[in-house]
Amino acid sequence: MKITYYGHACFAAQVANRDLLFDPFITGNDLAKAIDAKKIPADYILISHGHADHLADAADIAKRTGAMIVSNYEVTVWFNKQGVQRTHPLNHGGSFQFDFGRVKFVNAVHSSSLPDGTYGGNPGGFVIESKEGSFYYSGDTALTMDMKLIGDSTSLAFAALCIGDNFTMGIDDAVKAAEFVRCDQVLGLHYNTFPPIMIDSPAAIAKFKAARKHLHLLSPGESRNF
Ligand code: NI
Ligand code: MN
Repeated sequence: MKITYYGHACFAAQVANRDLLFDPFITGNDLAKAIDAKKIPADYILISHGHADHLADAADIAKRTGAMIVSNYEVTVWFNKQGVQRTHPLNHGGSFQFDFGRVKFVNAVHSSSLPDGTYGGNPGGFVIESKEGSFYYSGDTALTMDMKLIGDSTSLAFAALCIGDNFTMGIDDAVKAAEFVRCDQVLGLHYNTFPPIMIDSPAAIAKFKAARKHLHLLSPGESRNF
């Protein structure tokens, strides 16, 4: 699976000839100035929760591409009111078979108000299972014991984990999360975008290496295969 990082917690995965885009926050991100949100392809846009740093560009991209927005029920209803008609609501513990693979909405410990103050349901993460491989995107979350359930049931090619601390897991908890989900390949997300979530990249990579895991920190626009 080809993965492309677009800054903050936004990344794309090509799965079964479909472009999956996660948590698009590009035009408001100073670190993603080189990315043109108007050129990003998408067949599905998966949104972990209602915060603006996870969906600010989603409606525009969905309207341009015709992509379907997949999120919790409350977030999908909010997008319907923004003029996005193609949505698929999930709720925690539920999964659905799409044309590229199966998506399960899993627990995250965080909050989820929408930019205009609308109730955004509860935040989540996603487990994507496909013939080309499976992966987990944590969304914004604390470390939780629930992550062990993911490792019990799915063999992951990589885990996309928040690592920036302050609002989410920091490095030490993200190493434990990688252990809980039994995955050695980690794509780091949700760091360096704002002052409270700056990380020391070499130190972070070294901590994962000490746990015999690989932390991938991509530059916005950079791709790699998992
Ligand atoms: Ni958040
Ligand atoms: Mn966030």
